[in-house]
Parts: sequence; C-alpha cells; structure tokens
Amino acid sequence: MTDQSFPPYYDDLDATREHALALLTRGVKDRRSAMHTFTVGTIGPDGTPRQRTVVNRGYDAETRALRFHTDARSPKLDELRRDPRASVHVYDPRAKVQLRMDARATIHAADALRQAAWDATRDFSRECYRVVPAPGDVAESPSAIAFTRGDDPEEGAKNFVAVTLQIHALEWLYLAHQGHRRARFAWDETGNLEQTWLVP
Ligand SMILES: Cc1cc2nc3c(=O)[nH]c(=O)nc-3n(C[C@H](O)[C@H](O)[C@H](O)COP(=O)(O)O)c2cc1C
Repeated sequence: MTDQSFPPYYDDLDATREHALALLTRGVKDRRSAMHTFTVGTIGPDGTPRQRTVVNRGYDAETRALRFHTDARSPKLDELRRDPRASVHVYDPRAKVQLRMDARATIHAADALRQAAWDATRDFSRECYRVVPAPGDVAESPSAIAFTRGDDPEEGAKNFVAVTLQIHALEWLYLAHQGHRRARFAWDETGNLEQTWLVP
C-alpha cells in the first residue's frame, strides 16, 4: 500500500528540484513564507565570511537568479565587487526544507532592471534609502541618524541598488520521519544540469 504522507517529490529528483525552485518563487509574494527572506553569505575583505538577511524580491526561473535590493553604500556591495561569489541559505520549517545555494552576484546600479525595481518599490521601503549618514557608519546616538527631506520624491533613488544572484549549485535537504532526503543540483556555464541524491 502506498503511504499517502509521502510528498510527490520524495523519490523524484526532477520534482524535488522543481519544488525547491517553486518554494523560492512563492517566497517573493508570500510574506508569510519562510522564503520571503534568505541569508546571503559574502567574503569580507580579509576573507572572513559575512552573512545577512535580505528580502526575496524576485526569482527569475529562466536565469535562475534571485534578486534583493540594498543601499549602494552598504559594505556587502564592496564585498561583492571584490568577489562576486555568494552563498544563499534558507530554512523553511513548515516545508521542512533547507536550501543551500552557490551563486554569482551581479550589481545593478544603473540599468533597466534596477529602474524597474525602484519603480515597483513602495514609498515605505524607499524611505530607507534616504538615511544619513550611510548604513553601517558609526552613529554617536540614535538621534544622529536622519532621513534627507528634499522635495525630490526620487531622493533615495541614488542609493538604491538591485543585486541578482545567479544560482549555479543548489543543495536540498528535506526532513521526514520516513527518512530524510538530500540532493544536489549543479548547472555549468552553458546551463547543463547535473543532479544527484546525497546521503542526508
Ligand atoms: C528580516 C530582515 C530583512 C532584511 N532585508 C534587507 C534587504 O532586503 N536588503 C538589505 O540591504 N538589508 C536587509 N536587512 C538588513 C541586513 O540584514 C543587514 O543588516 C544590512 O543590510 C547591512 O548589511 P551589510 O553591512 O553586510 O551590508 C534585513 C534584515 C532583516 C532582519
């Protein structure tokens, strides 16, 4: 008899990969999804690993690129300019799925992608890009932190940057009573995919 509690992707590598990417896609719009945010790892100037949470702003299935937005003045951009290798981590406790990804970052500071992203950004989020001094700077006290108040509604735009993370490796871990499942998916430069199960 078939155990109905097995998800359809349980023993199916293709379905597992599609489910992983569907979870990332759902996270863009679904604010309650654990994949609405993810952790990005970069390499600091002295080689120290650096991590931070960002909001999942888009997943492009064609290019396998995740997108997040950030301030042009933020240290993570210097790190990515120096070395575009990035890692992405997310754990969805409801789905019992951990994804670990290797990606290559592209900084969009002045192109059509960045403009479209800014145009779609709500006023509340735009406000963050007006902060002075720069994110990460030392502040003598919280009252030393201000938001520029020019007439220009585009004031924060100059500090707004979109970053895409093109995923070239994805590791899946699914926790299940009946036996965990772990798999690795890797794409080469031409987009060829290699996939395999791993021991959990
Ligand atoms: C839930 C959550 C969502 C966040 N989203 C973003 C984001 O989308 N972009 C961003 O630059 N920082 C975001 N942050 C702040 C970063 O985690 C980080 O503190 C900040 O960007 C400074 O990182 P850096 O010094 O490595 O550049 C978020 C933090 C939290 C807790």
